[in-house]
Amino acid sequence: MYDIHAHILPQIDDGPRSRNESLAMIIEASRTGVKTLIATPHMKDVNEKTSVKHVESLLQLLKQDVKDLNLNITLKIGMENHLASDSPDMFATGKSLTINSTKFALIELPFFGYPNYVDDTLYQLIKNGIVPVLAHPERIELIQNNPAKLEAFLDKGMIAQITSGSLIGQFGQEVKSFTEMLVATGLVHVIGSDCHRPFGRRAPDLHIGFKAAARLVGELKAKAMVYDNPKSIINGTYKIC
Ligand SMILES: [Fe+2]
Repeated sequence: MYDIHAHILPQIDDGPRSRNESLAMIIEASRTGVKTLIATPHMKDVNEKTSVKHVESLLQLLKQDVKDLNLNITLKIGMENHLASDSPDMFATGKSLTINSTKFALIELPFFGYPNYVDDTLYQLIKNGIVPVLAHPERIELIQNNPAKLEAFLDKGMIAQITSGSLIGQFGQEVKSFTEMLVATGLVHVIGSDCHRPFGRRAPDLHIGFKAAARLVGELKAKAMVYDNPKSIINGTYKIC
């Protein structure tokens, strides 16, 4: 499986608190069948507390650990970029990162409300050649209140990534039911783990999401969400249909 949303870098955001904890997450991801993991620290934390250069060097250290331990998993860099009116500038100046230097970028919409820059900024990113991969729309109030808005974003060429744990009730029953509806109506392209810890509620387990999605839409479509689609996003070859 391929995980495009993972907080695995130590002491950057609300993810792991040490290199050992990072490594425990990577080992757990590998154990549950993840072959490629994209490190997606929060853009705001990276730029406010440290730098892109520093997170790249942290990733290099973890890559060395993976090599030393002979783990069958590849690590790549990305970012979870919260949407703001200056998002296009942040990408242009290299402060925001896409997934593995492709045109696909993990974008987090505001959790609450509907600020007036949202639509314009998303469309500006597309104009600039960046394809927004919307992080966990099932947890975003704007989409919860109006799922047709997600459909409209997808029609413009965006991609939807739900969180594995949402499908098994880790964010409550309401989010679970809503996520199931999104999956059942074909509004989901990718399942990511959005992992923050090695074990428990925010663990790097894509398999639980795959199993839950398979019960709703069958194994083939569920496999596309954890395998084919994220793989081609990471390779930069994903085609918007
Ligand atoms: Fe995240």
